[in-house]
Amino acid sequence: MSKLKFAILGCGRISYKHIEALVNNVEEAELVAVCDIVESKAVSRKEQYEKDIPNSNVKVYTDYKEMLKNENIDVVTIASESGYHAEHAKDCINAGTHVLIEKPMALSVQDADDIIALAKEKEKKVCVSHQNRFNPPIQKLRRAIEEGRFGRILNGTARILWTRDNNYYKQAPWRGTKELDGGTLMNQCIHNIDLLQWMMGSEVERVHAERSTFLRDIEMEDFGAILVRFKNGSIGIIEGSACVYPKNLEETLSIFGETGTVVIGGLAVNEIKTWQFADERDYDHEQNNTEIDNVYGQGHTPLYKDLIDAIHHNTEPLINGEEGKKAMEIILKAYDVSEVRK
Ligand SMILES: NC(=O)c1ccc[n+]([C@@H]2O[C@H](COP(=O)([O-])OP(=O)(O)OC[C@H]3O[C@@H](n4cnc5c(N)ncnc54)[C@H](O)[C@@H]3O)[C@@H](O)[C@H]2O)c1
Repeated sequence: MSKLKFAILGCGRISYKHIEALVNNVEEAELVAVCDIVESKAVSRKEQYEKDIPNSNVKVYTDYKEMLKNENIDVVTIASESGYHAEHAKDCINAGTHVLIEKPMALSVQDADDIIALAKEKEKKVCVSHQNRFNPPIQKLRRAIEEGRFGRILNGTARILWTRDNNYYKQAPWRGTKELDGGTLMNQCIHNIDLLQWMMGSEVERVHAERSTFLRDIEMEDFGAILVRFKNGSIGIIEGSACVYPKNLEETLSIFGETGTVVIGGLAVNEIKTWQFADERDYDHEQNNTEIDNVYGQGHTPLYKDLIDAIHHNTEPLINGEEGKKAMEIILKAYDVSEVRK
């Protein structure tokens, strides 16, 4: 089977993880072009890729429309600022490519729905980068959920206790703005909110929220608390902070059922802390904890593999548009029912 041709649109802070994932999937994928309005950023990603994959020839663009016109691309990875994702994704799908969109897939439900509808019409795949779903401890938890080992699921907690100081926000002025980013719930906490709703396995009935901008000089929240009542009766509690002193502390997901308790923590849901069930299975004692260099984890590589397989077999990727929309929608509901206090 021929390799799928990928391009990257937006070569900022997270883009090196996409290069890493493409390098790790080199048997099935090749990077043909990179684009950033700041040419030097695109050049560094080209160099990163070509260092690992000699004999490759990655074209550099500063105008993505030119790139779409000139190159024969199967998939565009969209890693521009969140507020541009919808426009960029729609342009790429209209040009005939599949899209892998960084989280959040959009900043409004309407935009997310438009991307999903357009991709359906054009028979293209949408994949959203909630890469932590592929963390081995998270996959193990999901297996236990699918096997019904929790009995009735009662409550779950997603805690994201990290630090993003004023320098982080100053480095890129779009961060923390309503128009292009959102606050810490939309930017950092969305991963764990996605995991929580995935495990609770139900649509949302209603959402309560409180938000503050305690310490950072930004428009949106640097702390958010959300309480979710799911339609299956279970309750989710979300606590997200960008203000923890002095550094990132933990990203922890806890799921409590009638006959099971699981807590997955570490810096980014990468270590099983508690694994208790009424029954016992062979895989209970497998070692699934993963080492991570930073909070981005190791999930981008399996995320790409999953999308590549979905394209080859014409199936849906694990995190398609509908799945990618769910956490974003919970956060937008929280934004609707709360104001940001200083
Ligand atoms: N999955 C994760 O763990 C993870 C982690 C960090 C960031 N992200 C997401 O990735 C996205 C990018 O975040 P970042 O921190 O890398 O931001 P960044 O500001 O470092 O990078 C964004 C890049 O997009 C470029 N860009 C903007 N408009 C463009 C256009 N029209 N054409 C070409 N390039 C354009 C900018 O010049 C910039 O270099 C955000 O949506 C963010 O939420 C995801």
